[in-house]
Amino acid sequence: MRYARIVGWGKYLPERILSNQDLETMVETSDEWIYSRTGIRERRIAASDETVTTMSVAASRAALAIAGLDATELDLIIVATSSPDYLLPAAASMIQHELGAEHAAAFDLRAGCSGFVYALAVGTQFIAGGMYRHVLVIGAEIISKFIDWQDRDTCVLFGDGAGAVVLQASEEPTGLLTCSLGSNGADYDALFVPGGGSKHPFSQEVLDRGWHHIKMDGKRLYRFAVRTAPQVALEALAMAGLSPADITLLIPHQANARIVQSACERLGVPEEKVFVNIRKYGNTSAASIPIALCEAAEEGRINSGDHVLLLGFGAGLTWAAAVVRWGVPELSISWLFSWDSIRERVHASGATATARRARAALLAAAGVLFMTTFSRSGGRK
Ligand SMILES: CC(C)(COP(=O)(O)OP(=O)(O)OC[C@H]1O[C@@H](n2cnc3c(N)ncnc32)[C@H](O)[C@@H]1OP(=O)(O)O)[C@@H](O)C(=O)NCCC(=O)NCCS
Repeated sequence: MRYARIVGWGKYLPERILSNQDLETMVETSDEWIYSRTGIRERRIAASDETVTTMSVAASRAALAIAGLDATELDLIIVATSSPDYLLPAAASMIQHELGAEHAAAFDLRAGCSGFVYALAVGTQFIAGGMYRHVLVIGAEIISKFIDWQDRDTCVLFGDGAGAVVLQASEEPTGLLTCSLGSNGADYDALFVPGGGSKHPFSQEVLDRGWHHIKMDGKRLYRFAVRTAPQVALEALAMAGLSPADITLLIPHQANARIVQSACERLGVPEEKVFVNIRKYGNTSAASIPIALCEAAEEGRINSGDHVLLLGFGAGLTWAAAVVRWGVPELSISWLFSWDSIRERVHASGATATARRARAALLAAAGVLFMTTFSRSGGRK
């Protein structure tokens, strides 16, 4: 049996912060209203020269550095996004080019805010089936470009960002163990952009009607999320033979702190086992779970062998839960002595994570050095 170990993780958040106070000057709202209803204090907004491609490339470089892999070793790139640079071609192809991943196939996957978990499931299948060895899975969004900044119902909720993970074939039971995916297109119009697709191509009428902006029925989405998220989480856990008590960390889609709280109460998962960063970033759609996963790893909230539950829900409507068994990359002598690679890690992923990995590497290397005489063969699978 082949598994898809997560060996690298990275994120990118644009520099510009848009706070609730900033929004108070733009629409009739208040920090108190936004924070009490959603848990959001601020979000990141992409600069005019930033795109899903540029953000994804930054997140992917960080993930590849942690994995100790060169982009040329990638076999496949999957990008979960609903806000690609162009309708045609896929952002994945441009990301593949920018990374120099010359041997990788590439495609975009659209499943709303559940997209990253869907993409993780797809990437895992390619590895489990034996076709590929290294897959890069990205979740990236620039929702700010589709927001009507006069519409207080939506403009307070969303933010921009990107997260990425590198999957590597492994014989050990690690990576995504089980998942439960679903969709109910009957409610497609609870969250959608009516114009710009093939049903209503861009026209003066589309612009006049504001159909190039996101339309949302917040209450319908709220009811859907609160009802569906715990159910799908339990399904994925049951498939893995686990219960909520076996989970080290729950990483939900960061849509609304109240939705997350309600789902956790229904599941009986205590607050301290839930990763929430919505206060800083708002809802970054398909990017929210990989950004949170990356932060959780950087903060040392997940250790080798831990079970992590990823829980996505959103436009489509779609839902997706996955049980992931965390496993750090296997370490090799060549990795330890590659100072260029260590320098890149420090730059890409912050000193804390690097220090932790370097410490683990030194301990592992001491053991390996004892057992072998400077074998330079790569220990990665
Ligand atoms: C959007 C959401 C925060 C609204 O919260 P809510 O508790 O349903 O809102 P309430 O019923 O308390 O308030 C609605 C009122 O607030 C007003 N309102 C909406 N946005 C507002 C804002 N930013 N500031 C102030 N008032 C606002 C509405 O106009 C409405 O006013 P009215 O009662 O006079 O018509 C909530 O429905 C939600 O989070 N839904 C899910 C959204 C989501 O997650 N989308 C992405 C899915 S992936």
